[in-house]
Amino acid sequence: MFILGVSCFYHDSAAALLKDGMLVAAAEEERFTRKKHDNGFPGNAIRFCLDSAGITGQDLDYVVFYEKPFVKFERILLSSLGTFPRSWRVFGEAMINYFDEKLWIKNTLMREVNVTAEKILFTDHHISHAASAMFASPFDKAAIVTMDGVGEWTTASIGKGTAQWGDGSENTIELWDELRFPHSLGLLYSAFTAHLGFRVNNGEYKVMGMAPYGEPKYIDEVYKVVRVADDGSIEINMDYFSYHYSTTDTFNQKFVDLFGPPREPESEFYSLVTHPKKDHPQWDHHMAEQNQKYADVAASIQRVTEEIVLKMVNTAHKKTGLGKLVMAGGVALNSVANGRVMRESPFKEVWIQPAAGDSGGALGAALYAYHVILGQPRQFVQEHNFWGAEYSEAQMVAAIEASGLPYKRFDDVEVLLDRALDTILQEKVIGWFQGRFEWGPRALGSRSILADPRRGEMKEIVNTKIKFREPFRPFAPVILEERAGEYFTTEGLDKQYPPRFMLIVSPFREDKCDQVQAVCHVGGTGRMQTIRWEWNPLYYRIVEKFAEATGIPVLLNTSYNLRGEPIVASPQDALKTFANSGIDQVVMGPFLVSKPDHMTAPVKPGPVELD
Ligand SMILES: [Fe+2]
Repeated sequence: MFILGVSCFYHDSAAALLKDGMLVAAAEEERFTRKKHDNGFPGNAIRFCLDSAGITGQDLDYVVFYEKPFVKFERILLSSLGTFPRSWRVFGEAMINYFDEKLWIKNTLMREVNVTAEKILFTDHHISHAASAMFASPFDKAAIVTMDGVGEWTTASIGKGTAQWGDGSENTIELWDELRFPHSLGLLYSAFTAHLGFRVNNGEYKVMGMAPYGEPKYIDEVYKVVRVADDGSIEINMDYFSYHYSTTDTFNQKFVDLFGPPREPESEFYSLVTHPKKDHPQWDHHMAEQNQKYADVAASIQRVTEEIVLKMVNTAHKKTGLGKLVMAGGVALNSVANGRVMRESPFKEVWIQPAAGDSGGALGAALYAYHVILGQPRQFVQEHNFWGAEYSEAQMVAAIEASGLPYKRFDDVEVLLDRALDTILQEKVIGWFQGRFEWGPRALGSRSILADPRRGEMKEIVNTKIKFREPFRPFAPVILEERAGEYFTTEGLDKQYPPRFMLIVSPFREDKCDQVQAVCHVGGTGRMQTIRWEWNPLYYRIVEKFAEATGIPVLLNTSYNLRGEPIVASPQDALKTFANSGIDQVVMGPFLVSKPDHMTAPVKPGPVELD
């Protein structure tokens, strides 16, 4: 039985295909169209999923859409009518958008996927999030917490899932507590994201990265705009916000009166914390003080978010009495909050969908249909995250030949890895292209950039060569799973799933930050990825080789893309990024691709979209 899950038309469109309950393929549309956060119809991702199984749309038993467009339309309509005339623009845009294609998704699916109407099912947005976690986790019973911006009406939910192996009759998802629009932790965080000069639905993790440069001095002010009950439910004071009646503004003048003027997008970020010697080239004392305030605001909203998440999670524990927790929804990508859930909540085991945002809804919708609507037994555990497209050696050769770059094929991978290690040890930067690309927003060793993490200067080197990003965006450490406990204080890193998917931030052990300065964020934390040999042998082996050479089982891992672009998917994307950046070598399958000397100079950042 083939079931295709589809999510689209909000952000991060995606498709996922199940064959008899096993995930065959899943991908976000942006990887194919090269348009970051592409929210259009995911025609490329669907085609890729069908091709992976060698089928056409006619072979599908069901296509499941991840939310209910008519209910969502009702929410937009009712909330904009409630704030009319301030919302006249939202109202107008909603009418145009929804009557265009969003409301008629059934027709679009019938036409584009070539299926009949009775094969198309719809699930609730938060049910899709819940199922993407519950039925991909290894748990047979778990508490569920979902948190995001908004789906139809729901913005967060608490419930319970059961997933039985063998007899599918017990597969259930019950979400009994919910928060409803406009009371939304995701939208609250997004409003601060916009105030701090970042793009909504894109720059939320930058707020998280900026927070450690500040002190949570504005917590009282944050609690003026949001009331938080002991059970984690929230009530937002809409006097400060405009997202319920505007498509462009999330906060209003009253918010500015409370938190000060918003930060200029793309302005330089420096303060006495980032530059204690005031040696930033554009140093201006007033600007530095202003930036410090922004960092303090970031620290405050981050702290309040963590408190709300912990309260919700504790409520889920109280109400279910279960020892296991699953989470999904965009807020579940807040890896600092997730780290605290792992360390401070009563749950013994936690599983989080790595595609926690709306792309993951495609997988959740398909899993929900298979297990709950059709009552089929559990088959699948999402042990790893490599569900995207892979490319043959012939395709790699064709792309490399077309690029005109020098390359060499290695029959013995150990020799290939030794060459790559030599490059890394010379403080050069490797592009790493292996196997199927990742599902969700994180590069986990299929499409990564790797470098030596030991010296703090490596941050600047990687930034100059490729990323051009702000100092508050830390680079991540990848660490051999069995040695993660030596470096980080969080318990159970070698047993639990979230660190495999780079979903938690943990404090380093006291003496370790100095050993890996390029991946230690201010305040002594790291968003690590733990790796096992069985899921990605070459990736494991390069880190292991680095450990054999230096004693340190850690590499710097960052996503293989230029700023503002999606992570690379094909060999062509990878080579284009290689040619347009200061990456020194690419390990692509069994090939080592190099650059002529004249191409190795660092490149200057061109005009890029703020990502
Ligand atoms: Fe969502």
